[in-house]
Amino acid sequence: MSLDIPFNKPVFAGNELWYIQDAVQRMHISGDGHYTGRCHEMLEEIHGGSRVLLTTSCTTALELAALLLDLEPGDEVIMPSFTFVSTANAFALRGAKIRFADVSPDTLNIDPTHVRSLINDRTRVIVPVHYAGVACDMDELAAIAAPHGIAIIEDAAQALGSTYRGKPLGSIGQMGTLSFHETKNVICGEGGAIIVNDESLVKPAEIAREKGTNRAAFFRGEVDKYTWCDLGGSMLPSDILAAFLLGQLEHLSALNGRRRTLWDRYLEGLGSLGEREDVDLPVVPEYATHNAHLFGLRVRDLEARSELIEGLRDRGIGAVFHYVPLHLSPMGRAMGYQDGDLPVTEREHARLLRLPLYPSLVDSDQGRIIDSVLDLLGAREPKSAAASIETFPSRDPMSQPPVHPPR
Ligand SMILES: Cc1ncc(COP(=O)(O)O)c(C=O)c1O
Repeated sequence: MSLDIPFNKPVFAGNELWYIQDAVQRMHISGDGHYTGRCHEMLEEIHGGSRVLLTTSCTTALELAALLLDLEPGDEVIMPSFTFVSTANAFALRGAKIRFADVSPDTLNIDPTHVRSLINDRTRVIVPVHYAGVACDMDELAAIAAPHGIAIIEDAAQALGSTYRGKPLGSIGQMGTLSFHETKNVICGEGGAIIVNDESLVKPAEIAREKGTNRAAFFRGEVDKYTWCDLGGSMLPSDILAAFLLGQLEHLSALNGRRRTLWDRYLEGLGSLGEREDVDLPVVPEYATHNAHLFGLRVRDLEARSELIEGLRDRGIGAVFHYVPLHLSPMGRAMGYQDGDLPVTEREHARLLRLPLYPSLVDSDQGRIIDSVLDLLGAREPKSAAASIETFPSRDPMSQPPVHPPR
């Protein structure tokens, strides 16, 4: 059945194709051209001046971070099991042993108490994943990591524009990673970035990202030829993708703002469910401001979730579940994990569903989603139907002149 309210819809902010056209006219469509530089500038400004380098995805950025840490087989890396496969795969590729920690039941972020219990003399890295764009407890994690010289790599794939005690996520650990995949708040199809907060890793990051060569230094005129210096990969995106991304980044606050309005409205509209024992609404700790990346609702159990997803689908509304815990994947089981090892993760992931949330979602459709959820959960309240249609309109990038002409 076709869905008239999909779970996600990419939004075009207006200048994407103009910037791509300009990139082509500049005759530089490989990596690190004009638009990559402009994205770097914007992202560095957001992240307090740390060096930011675009990558082909957040997966690539995580692989780059793992490479830069010179991990050896047997080194241990602690992360949540409730995350995307790339968080673990990037470190497993370097031969590291993955130690999965449970999550806190309120935020579904990594539980510092469990992290502490997993530390030993082989622990080299902790990877907090800022789930839903809501910050992990970074002070607690730093207090665990620092005395042992353990690195913190923030997986901020979902967290562009969010903060922890006023600091942008991704700019707190040694390195952080971002995603610009089509499902994120700011997109370019497939794309990502690494945020390098540790100054000593900036040059190694440039080299590893450019096939292990010092090509970046060559382009800055610091050396007269470039050569193979270290291990690396081809990790930089084409300037065409960077041009698209700039068209989005320049609207970051409006895109996140519209999401936030919708997120707040979900919380308000579904607020009465929070009083029920079998339903949990999202929790944002006082130390966090968030980018409204997703709205997750937790119901009684797996069966209730499946029924709700199906019930919404029957009404043309796309709602979906999220990460299947990695410790129970075939790879996780091959590492020796089994059912019952991470009880909070196992219980909470099964109860969770995500509601449609994208900037061009119109208020009246969101009203329909809220009413349907209340109805399907037997909690229908008389509500005035949302009439206003207030939205961040997805602009047709082919039919209008650029909002900001390319510079
Ligand atoms: C927490 C997390 N890390 C990493 C990734 C990988 O991002 P990308 O698709 O840009 O490689 C995702 C993707 O959704 C994610 O949710």
